[in-house]
Amino acid sequence: MQAGDLEPPEPQAVSAPLTRAAIFLMVQVDAGAEQTAKDLLADLAGLQRAVGFRDAGAGLTCVAGISSAAWDRIYGGPRPAELHELPVFSGEKHTSVVTAGADLLFHLRAERLDLCFELESLIMDRLRGSVTVLDEVQGFRYFDARDVLGFVDGTENPTGNGVNQAVLVDDDEPFNRGSYVVVQKYLHDMAAWNALTTEQQELVIGRRKLSDVEMPDEEKPADAHIALNVITDDEGNELDILRDNMPFGRPGHDEFGTYFIGYTKSPAVIEKMLENMFVGSPPGTYDRILDFSTPHTGALFYVPTADFLEDPPDAPPEPEPPAAATPAGTSLGIGSLRRSIR
Ligand code: HEM
Repeated sequence: MQAGDLEPPEPQAVSAPLTRAAIFLMVQVDAGAEQTAKDLLADLAGLQRAVGFRDAGAGLTCVAGISSAAWDRIYGGPRPAELHELPVFSGEKHTSVVTAGADLLFHLRAERLDLCFELESLIMDRLRGSVTVLDEVQGFRYFDARDVLGFVDGTENPTGNGVNQAVLVDDDEPFNRGSYVVVQKYLHDMAAWNALTTEQQELVIGRRKLSDVEMPDEEKPADAHIALNVITDDEGNELDILRDNMPFGRPGHDEFGTYFIGYTKSPAVIEKMLENMFVGSPPGTYDRILDFSTPHTGALFYVPTADFLEDPPDAPPEPEPPAAATPAGTSLGIGSLRRSIR
């Protein structure tokens, strides 16, 4: 950085490490409650400090994401370049899901579920009556970071400098240091999965179950999960995302799930992965994991920087009413003048 340059904005805790516990909360902001949502988002870091400082070693973080539709309602003004609604991916056999009205995502992480629970309670104290809760999932660490299918999940995540390179919008672009996040809640057909031998399960994932070692390319089927999710740019560079998937479930209700969450600097990367999974690459060679895993939600959000959330810019002035609406020469344009000064 050159002397005199502005400090780059502070990202939210997107790249926080995998924790033992997480809560995923997805809400729709009721009509007329935009300011309530905006105020809560501005106070989120303070609420996180209030809960997290009481056990600083537990690493409590909360990342908030805002959907395309909610962005215009809550902030207005310029939009993050790649913010849009998540498309549906539809292949011969499997189709993804998009959750209508998913306006805000809160991703809470800590080594202790009680801290996530407390912070979520404070968030809901502020939002209750102003939002409709669409989905709420408590995730947990399962043994050595395994999913409920029994495989270690998260191994090939980027590390070190690679994390920010994968997840933060570049500094020479507008909305720099923001991020994008895609979530999907999957439920697994455990009876069908457990009917497979361990060797058959390894062919579905593309890694060994016990050791977590990747299968050699000549043994890895083209429809293995990791074969379809390693994608590259035009120059052959691998395009990473940061996944923080969590198992969840209620065995008493025969519910066994994986909450997929992926952070990226460009949603096009995750969308390519989803296309490979659902449509197949080549089309028809879809991800075998989908024969045992069904998505029940899906949404894309922009993750503004912490600085933006805390002190968002003023929304641009409303457009002037058409000239014919006011008698010629009588408008001083004071309304717009007032809005642009602060
Ligand atoms: C890798 C599980 C959904 C992207 C893996 C691995 C497992 C796994 C066990 C191998 C270990 C690792 O590197 O983490 C699951 C489960 C899912 C799921 C149980 C839900 C049913 C998704 C989705 C995406 C995705 C929806 C992207 C849209 C990836 C990527 C890798 C990976 C990029 C690493 C590939 C590599 O570099 O080797 N997943 N996954 N996964 N998954 Fe998933």
